[in-house]
This record gives sequence, C-alpha cells and structure tokens, in this order.
Amino acid sequence: MKFTYYGHACFAVETGGKNLLFDPFITPNELAKSVDVEAIPADYILLSHGHFDHVSDAVEIARRTGATVIANYEVSQWIEKQGINAAQALNPGGAHTFDFGRVKCVNAIHSSSLPDGSYGGQPGGFVIESPEGSFYYSGDTALTFDMKLIAEEFQLRFAVLPVGDNFTMGAADAAKAAGFAGCDEAVGVHFDTWPPIAIDHEAAKAAFAKAGKRLHLLKIGETHDF
Ligand code: NI
Ligand code: MN
Repeated sequence: MKFTYYGHACFAVETGGKNLLFDPFITPNELAKSVDVEAIPADYILLSHGHFDHVSDAVEIARRTGATVIANYEVSQWIEKQGINAAQALNPGGAHTFDFGRVKCVNAIHSSSLPDGSYGGQPGGFVIESPEGSFYYSGDTALTFDMKLIAEEFQLRFAVLPVGDNFTMGAADAAKAAGFAGCDEAVGVHFDTWPPIAIDHEAAKAAFAKAGKRLHLLKIGETHDF
C-alpha cells in the first residue's frame, strides 16, 4: 500500500487499485504550498469529521475527480449541499464494502462542526480492509480504550494517528493507541501546522520506540510503502 503525506492530517493511500484521499486540507496550509492540489488523484475521499482542517479542499477535489465522499451522516449532507452527489454516509459502528475493500467507521473522542458552523455529527475514525492489508486512521481523537476493539477485530499493517497534542492525542498517548489497536507501525499526523501543535520530532519518535513501536513522521509530499 503506497502512502503519501500531504500535510496536517491529509494523506492518500493507494490500495485495491484505487486512490483513497483522507481529510484534504492543503490550499489553506502554509506548510503545503509545494503540493499541487489539482494533480492529486482521488477515487474516494474519506472525511473523519467536519472541522475545516479536515474538509477544506474536499468539495473542489470531489468536483474535479468525481470521487465518492465517505463521511458521517451530517458531513455527507453538507457535502451534498455543496453540489456533490456521490456521498456515502457511514456513522460509528457501521461498515460498508466498496470496490477496493471494506471501510468500518470507528469511535473517536473529539468534536465536530462544519465550516459554516452547522452541526457536524459524531467524529470518527476508519479501519480500511483491502486485499493488500488493513490500516486504521483514528481521525482527531483522544486516547480511548475503544481502540482495543480494533485489535480484537483486525490485523493492522499500520495506523495513522495524530501526535500534535493540544487538540488531539500527543505522541505518548498515540504510542499507547498503537498498542491498543495492536499495531507496531504508525504514521503521525496533525502536528507542526500551527504553534500549539508544533512537536519535537525526535522526542515523539522516542515515545514510540519506548513502547516498542515505530513512528514515521513524513515530509509533506513524501511517500512510504507499507
Ligand atoms: Ni478536529
Ligand atoms: Mn483537526
């Protein structure tokens, strides 16, 4: 599975022959100026919740690519209100099988409102299962015991976890989250975009190493094969 990091909590995974794009926030991100948003391919766009730093470029990319948007009920309704017809609503606990594999929406502890201030429903994370393997994107969340349910149900190749602290888990809790979810490799997201979430990269990696885990902190535009 080819993983590409686009900054903040935006990344893409190529699996099952499809391009899955998560939480697109590129054009407003000062750190992601090198990314050509018009060149990003997407067959599916998955949105963990309604906050602007997760949905900013979703409508434009969905319009250009014709991608199906996967998000909770309220975010799906908001996406359709922007003139995008292909939205698949998926709420926590629910799973749906697509042509690339299966997506299960799982619990996250956070908040969710849309850029226009409307109610964003329950925030979530996703577990993606495909013939090439499974991975977990927690979305913005605190550490929660619910992550142990993921280890009971899935064998993960890797997890994508916020490590920036302040608005979400920091690295120490994210290392515990990787353990709860039963996963040895993680990609950190939701860090360095603004001063409150600026992190010490070496300290974050050390927190994972102490737990016997590996944290990848990719450069914006960098790819990694899992
Ligand atoms: Ni958020
Ligand atoms: Mn966020």
